[in-house]
Amino acid sequence: NNRINIAIDGPAGAGKSTVARLVANQLSYIYVDTGAMYRAVTWFLTKHGVGPEVPDQVLEHVQHMLIELTPDHGGQRVWVNGEDVTSYIRTPQVNGLVSRYAQIEGLRTHLVQLQRQMALRKGVVMDGRDIGTTVLPDAEVKIFMTATVKERALRRFNEMNDAERTSLEQLEKDISMRDTLDEQREISPLRRAEDAILLDTTEMNIHQVVEKIVSLCRSQM
Ligand code: C5P
Repeated sequence: NNRINIAIDGPAGAGKSTVARLVANQLSYIYVDTGAMYRAVTWFLTKHGVGPEVPDQVLEHVQHMLIELTPDHGGQRVWVNGEDVTSYIRTPQVNGLVSRYAQIEGLRTHLVQLQRQMALRKGVVMDGRDIGTTVLPDAEVKIFMTATVKERALRRFNEMNDAERTSLEQLEKDISMRDTLDEQREISPLRRAEDAILLDTTEMNIHQVVEKIVSLCRSQM
């Protein structure tokens, strides 16, 4: 059986992480959530008081940051300099800032390099915004997952617990804002690679999306 790499891209809240994790489990592959890396950087830098408006300082701090991803019950844990930050990187504060740090060219170059290393031996399911276009242009299977903004906001809403929950309207606004920033940035913006399969999941459930992707993968193995 031929080991392959699988790239899953798409806008915020399309269900990429859930689907990528399940696909990886079915194939016994490694799941890499690249959004978690941008989030870990965001958490670390806000903790050190370094904002996205000072890219030089951002790059300086990132040199002293060891980011590790480890498998965890079919999911993934995120570590920064040995500290488990998994539960710190999904706060509204990080949500609101991550796309601004993600616009910094040197930071992207650095993270892309780490991501490519993780995929060298193949057998990786990687999700993000620029995997099919920039990180792994040679991935054997490329998926671009979308759903309407309304549907994506609703999915996020249903995932949240009572403490985290904000209004559906606010969620829609946040998601649209991140979409715009991600699509319009100069360096590797969010877009479908020419050879990526477009999967509109608005009317599909998770099980159907996973089945579809796994069968596409098996046909390439
Ligand atoms: O996937 P997730 O929503 O956790 O990603 C958070 C943010 O990280 C995105 O909105 C985007 O700004 C950035 N990101 C990116 N490139 C990736 C993955 C995430 O720019 N490959």
